[in-house]
Amino acid sequence: MQIQEHAFAKLNLSLDILRKMEDGYHEMSMVMQSISLCDDVTVSCEPGEGSVTASTNLKYLPVDEKNIAVRAARLFFAHTGISGYDTKITLKKRIPVCAGMGGGSADGAAVLRGLNSLFRTGLDGDTLRALAVKLGSDVPFCIQGGTVFAGGRGEVLTPLPAMPSCGIVVCKPSVSISTPQLFSRIRCEKIRLHPDTNGILDAITKADLNGIAVRMYNVFETVLPQNAGQIGEIKSELLDHRALGAVMTGSGSAVFGLFETADLARQAWEAMRGKYRDCFLTAPQDRIPILA
Ligand code: C5P
Repeated sequence: MQIQEHAFAKLNLSLDILRKMEDGYHEMSMVMQSISLCDDVTVSCEPGEGSVTASTNLKYLPVDEKNIAVRAARLFFAHTGISGYDTKITLKKRIPVCAGMGGGSADGAAVLRGLNSLFRTGLDGDTLRALAVKLGSDVPFCIQGGTVFAGGRGEVLTPLPAMPSCGIVVCKPSVSISTPQLFSRIRCEKIRLHPDTNGILDAITKADLNGIAVRMYNVFETVLPQNAGQIGEIKSELLDHRALGAVMTGSGSAVFGLFETADLARQAWEAMRGKYRDCFLTAPQDRIPILA
């Protein structure tokens, strides 16, 4: 038996870091948004000894336990007690790696959703999220995605009304940034500017796209390494091409711009795609229902 799931990428409309917690993780305050750009995740299970294997179109990605999708399958079987199946996971990657777009997290969440459907285990959203947090801080969000306020490590989630429709262009420069390294550059007491998170939440409630776009802010942009100059360049280019606002997502290095219409986003994308290999035209993606 086999199932295919879309693993949607995420963007941070805002990202704030409040404090370093006793366990070494940071307390976050983020507004997250799924986008239509996705990986295709196929999960096949046949009677067998309980092996979990993965393959992907990106040759340099690990396909062993280092891959969140593999760990997700093992976690599902350990939690449910289901045994006697060999699992094959095929990842068709479109979401760039090391981009701050939650690609690995989305794949892990998709495997949990897929196995829950395949085996009709009926785990509800909260149960899937409780499993997901063992795989990484962004995985619980990816279980259902949509427009969400995320606190705690990123796993304390409050669903929000869907953001207004718009066009989105995402561009990842060639530089890649390590998430733990960027966190280690953060000194919470030294962060002077914080995003107007309440203003963004208010703008989302009012379906005020411009109100969202002008408030987008990511505190990680204040501690970027010297070799990350392309991030500022992409932001400027997006704004020159009439984005309402542009910001880096997560720990980078991808940058995105919001546009009033899909047409305006397309014009920007056409102008920029020749220069950046990873340049995507996309749109907001709604919350995925979980049929428990
Ligand atoms: O949870 P996840 O495995 O995705 O986190 C990767 C790394 O990012 C952690 O080991 C930690 O260094 C850092 N992190 C953090 N605070 C968070 C989330 C992640 O310091 N809220």
